[in-house]
Amino acid sequence: MSLVTEIQEIAAQYPQSRSAIMPALHLAQKKYGWLPREAFEEVGEALGLTPAYCMSVASFYDMYHLEPVGTHIVEVCTNISCALVGAQATLEAFERELGIRPGETTADGEVTLRTVECYGGCGWGPVVAVDQRYHEPVKPEDVPRLVQDLRNA
Ligand code: FES
Repeated sequence: MSLVTEIQEIAAQYPQSRSAIMPALHLAQKKYGWLPREAFEEVGEALGLTPAYCMSVASFYDMYHLEPVGTHIVEVCTNISCALVGAQATLEAFERELGIRPGETTADGEVTLRTVECYGGCGWGPVVAVDQRYHEPVKPEDVPRLVQDLRNA
C-alpha cells in the first residue's frame, strides 16, 4: 500500500482530512526515517494540503526530523528545570562519549545527539530520551552505560 493511500485511510477517520496531519507525518517519517521533500509532497497530496504547509507543521515539533538521523536518537532536555540540575554536564558527557556535538550523527550513522526543550518531566531532570524512551534523572556518570546499552541494542 502506498504512503498516500495509507494516509488517506487514516484521514477518513477524521471529520476534516487536514486533522490527520500529525499521524500522516509520523507515517511518512517511519517510511523515510526522516522527512525529505518527497515526504511533504506525499502527505500534502494525501490530505489536500501544500507541501509547504506540511513542512511548517513538522518544523514546529521536535519529534519530526527535517534532516537525516542515525539509527538511534539521544535527546537531552536543556530547558530551565533540567538546566538547573545539571543538563549541560549530562549533555557534555554524551558529547564526549559519542564524539559528536548536538545536531550531529556519529560517523557510523548509529547515533544522533540532539537537545530538546522540555519533556514534561521537569521535576525529575535532567531528562534524556533514548529512542523516545525516557530516562530520568541522567547524571554524567550514567552516560557511558546508556551509550553502551544503546550500542548493544
Ligand atoms: S525542563 Fe526538562 S523536562 Fe521540562
